[in-house]
Amino acid sequence: MEKVRMGIIGIGNMGSAHCKSVMDLDNCTLAAVCDTDPAAFARLPAECRDSVKKYTDPDEFFRDGNVDAVIVAVPHYDHAPLGIKALQAGKHILVEKPLSPSVGIARTLLDEGKKHPELVQSAMLQLRTMAAFRTIKHLLDQQELGTLTRINWIVTTWFRTQYYYDSGDWRASWRGEGGGVLLNQCPHQLDLLQWLFGMPSRVHAFATIGKFHDIEVEDEVNAYLEYPNGATGIFVTTTGEAPGTNRLEIAGSRGRLVYENGELKFRRNEVDAAKYIRESNSAFGVPAYWDVTVPFTETVTGARHHLIIRNFANAIRQGEKLIAPLPDALNELEIGNAMLYSGLNHELVTLPLDEKKYDRMLSGLIAKSRYVKKVASGGSVDMNASLS
Ligand SMILES: NC(=O)c1ccc[n+]([C@@H]2O[C@H](COP(=O)([O-])OP(=O)(O)OC[C@H]3O[C@@H](n4cnc5c(N)ncnc54)[C@H](O)[C@@H]3O)[C@@H](O)[C@H]2O)c1
Repeated sequence: MEKVRMGIIGIGNMGSAHCKSVMDLDNCTLAAVCDTDPAAFARLPAECRDSVKKYTDPDEFFRDGNVDAVIVAVPHYDHAPLGIKALQAGKHILVEKPLSPSVGIARTLLDEGKKHPELVQSAMLQLRTMAAFRTIKHLLDQQELGTLTRINWIVTTWFRTQYYYDSGDWRASWRGEGGGVLLNQCPHQLDLLQWLFGMPSRVHAFATIGKFHDIEVEDEVNAYLEYPNGATGIFVTTTGEAPGTNRLEIAGSRGRLVYENGELKFRRNEVDAAKYIRESNSAFGVPAYWDVTVPFTETVTGARHHLIIRNFANAIRQGEKLIAPLPDALNELEIGNAMLYSGLNHELVTLPLDEKKYDRMLSGLIAKSRYVKKVASGGSVDMNASLS
């Protein structure tokens, strides 16, 4: 196949950056863009601003026979309905994270996806391309940590100002965005959490609404997780802390792995701790250990969305295995939804999440939301209808 002719819908912060990535890649070309707000086209890279085909009506855009594949980079509630339209028009899709504000809505997209197995369907979960996380996954898959016992991830490097929240009227509202730090900033870490450790079985969280900002959604979450093998996890996040911390600490019976400041440190037990507990005849002895800095090389620094776009185009052209298949993105959403449900209702949540209960809660929050969505020209959806 020739280069993939890519269309991008939503030319905001992210969509305009994706235009640049597509133009820089050698396996795809930028065929058309779409945004319901024509003012957004001013954000297009100068090299294509005049020349690229532009649409303000998503339906017309999806009918463009010169577009093979669509990158969906609009606000969250529109991911599923526009992804569905793209599939129905025969386009391969790459959808921005999160799949949708709720697992229930996301499922409508995945169900449509099942009807089109011939179309490539991917999610923008670009942190999966980081060598650090691929190395951690390899170590876990090789059982280098023994039995997993504890995970702590503090990710408070998502600092955001009020100016950021005020920069888009859909942001940080139940009706416009569908959630806060869990839904917008954390999908990458929540995806890595499930990619590395699997799904938790129970979640108990504390979530604080507008603690640091004048917003109606959560900007601080402290969550406790339990895994089927008895391992426990703590996930801490906020958009209100500076300087932030990004520290992932993984404890297993064979030692402790810490990823922080770009380094992977492994304190490796000489003897499995569980075996030592059983067999040692010393009251206060601890297993001897040695310290290892695990080597890995990040070949890309900074943004890595282009790696996912390149992989998406190669999957279309020559069947390359997807780094982030679309259905995978449901898991991070389920963990995020479970944390938010638990935090707002002060309840321990057992997974799988009760999706209907979650959507009822979200409908109630939307009903009280102070954001009123403007009806976009063509293509925009009624999020209450999506939830019904
Ligand atoms: N993967 C990442 O690292 C990453 C980073 C930032 C944002 N994102 C995601 O990208 C998406 C967009 O975020 P953003 O920061 O670019 O938002 P933004 O507000 O800057 O841009 C959104 C654009 O979509 C347009 N739009 C809205 N509804 C539309 C519709 N129905 N049809 C066509 N266009 C429509 C708006 O006019 C706007 O230009 C979100 O899902 C966000 O979570 C991902």
